[in-house]
Amino acid sequence: MNDHDPDISSSAGRTNSPERQTPVTQTLDWNDGDMPYSREFGDHFYCQTDGRLECGHTFLTGNGLPERWSQPVSPESDFLIGELGFGTGLNFCETWRQWKLFRQPGARLHFMSFELFPMQRDEIDRALARWPEIDAERKAFAAIWPDQPTGHVVLELDDQTKLTVVCDPALDGVTAAKAGFDAWFLDGFAPSRNPAMWSPELMQALYDKTSPGGTFGTYAAAGFVRRNLQAAGFTVERRPGFAGKREMLCGKRG
Ligand SMILES: C[S@@+](CC[C@H](N)C(=O)[O-])C[C@H]1O[C@@H](n2cnc3c(N)ncnc32)[C@H](O)[C@@H]1O
Repeated sequence: MNDHDPDISSSAGRTNSPERQTPVTQTLDWNDGDMPYSREFGDHFYCQTDGRLECGHTFLTGNGLPERWSQPVSPESDFLIGELGFGTGLNFCETWRQWKLFRQPGARLHFMSFELFPMQRDEIDRALARWPEIDAERKAFAAIWPDQPTGHVVLELDDQTKLTVVCDPALDGVTAAKAGFDAWFLDGFAPSRNPAMWSPELMQALYDKTSPGGTFGTYAAAGFVRRNLQAAGFTVERRPGFAGKREMLCGKRG
């Protein structure tokens, strides 16, 4: 996403209109050789400062992770993370890396991501090779990523970690998902570029599928996003964003 605050920008050619339509294709440009940029959405996939560290600040810390993983676990239920926008899999690889460091014996993580335009393996490799810290996770995940990802891609990464990527519009995927999400990573491009990923209907579907005490984290700080999350039922908190960004949002289902 944009390093500057896209939600208060008034540059020519941008719109904050929630009416803006979701593009039907996605064409990638590669800045600096390995930084994917979506031409149709007009946005980067993560901040240009360091997407991996941004994931730690915004999505992991924003959801109280990894601390929550140290709590006693029920053997019947996985810790279920939902993500809007799988993209390169950077958030997944960084989450899996930290999960391996902090998980309890017997605990299971299920990371379920909703993605309309799944990437090809060579694109994932090209983007993620930038971070040696997640080399092991990138290689293991890319090796079993399908050539033609469609429908529900279900990958067992290790005996405590499962990844599902639902290749559909996020609203359809979340609406069809079973309830029980413990944490959400809201990562659907800047709200001004892709309002469909922040709509009242989608925020309501997220809330309805969240367990009591479940949380979300996002770099977005736009007023309409905050209001949609509050209207859905979440308690919303503003925190300092990553790399000097003034604000991000996180919150909880009571
Ligand atoms: C900011 S990127 C996500 C970055 C990603 N989490 C990562 O770790 O690389 C946003 C993603 O949302 C996807 N997307 C955009 N609109 C969508 C929609 N309506 N439903 C599902 N996915 C969508 C894009 O294809 C893109 O991959």
